[in-house]
Amino acid sequence: MPVSIRPLTDGLLGGEVSGIDCRRPLDAETVAAVEAGMDRHGVLVFPGQDLTDEQQIAFSRHFGGLERYGTPAHVRKRADERLGPGISDLSNLDKQGRPLGGDDRVWLFKLGDQLWHSDSSFRPVPAKYSLLSARAIPAHGGNTEFADMRAAYDALDEAMKSLVEPLICAHSLMYSRGSLGFTDYTEEELEAFRPVRQRLVRTHPVTGRKSLFLSSHAGAIEGWSIPQARLFLRDLIEHATQREFVYAHVWRLHDLVIWDNRTTMHRARPFDAAAVRDMRRTTLAGDAPTIEQVAAVA
Ligand code: OGA
Ligand code: MN
Repeated sequence: MPVSIRPLTDGLLGGEVSGIDCRRPLDAETVAAVEAGMDRHGVLVFPGQDLTDEQQIAFSRHFGGLERYGTPAHVRKRADERLGPGISDLSNLDKQGRPLGGDDRVWLFKLGDQLWHSDSSFRPVPAKYSLLSARAIPAHGGNTEFADMRAAYDALDEAMKSLVEPLICAHSLMYSRGSLGFTDYTEEELEAFRPVRQRLVRTHPVTGRKSLFLSSHAGAIEGWSIPQARLFLRDLIEHATQREFVYAHVWRLHDLVIWDNRTTMHRARPFDAAAVRDMRRTTLAGDAPTIEQVAAVA
């Protein structure tokens, strides 16, 4: 069956893919079609993909190497991990498969996923694609929204483009969580969540298009006061997440959604904390720090 992609919005953001069984190995032509779809749409939805963790990992690896960092991106203790290596737990569940509960520290930290962000922008080399698989979904709520950072960049006026072009931000999980009042960390977490530097404007390595590299993990701009930086970033995120730049994905069981973290932001939407929402993510490594990327094309 030939691969086809149906646009999901009036703009370029989002496409729904048919003609691919993600459980089977892909030929080079199919991989190229998906990559071209990602470069065009930023977000691709693959409905009806009932995957095991192993199948999800194998499918993901067609598009690059998995991201592997030695430090966690969350506050769950290793012994309490529900899933094996190579796959991140984006669920609201404990090791026994029960909802974590509204005052669990792991859950309070996870609430930060409901802020607009780009995955691993708090890592020295931020992520390329994320692939999120819906294994169980709540009856209501729990959508994921995506915003097109290329369109958001293009819509800036020339003065604003010049202002943002050279800016370097500091990103940390402590900034996103801190904005929700989550501020208590162990020594180990403080070390793991140390801020990293990222360009605010980045250039896509394939399409050459510029985009805003925004994320709620960004909490400072080099050379700016903190309040001025936070206000500026808050305004930019408001600009970049206007409805015309956003696609809201309403999950169906066994959807697999892939997004390019280099050109989009996303956020989870609220749902009943007592419901089961089992989402599992594979993440592909980016290829260079954004600081170097921009320097190379400048
Ligand atoms: C993620 C994420 C949002 C969601 O997988 O990186 O932010 O809706 N998920 O679960
Ligand atoms: Mn995310």
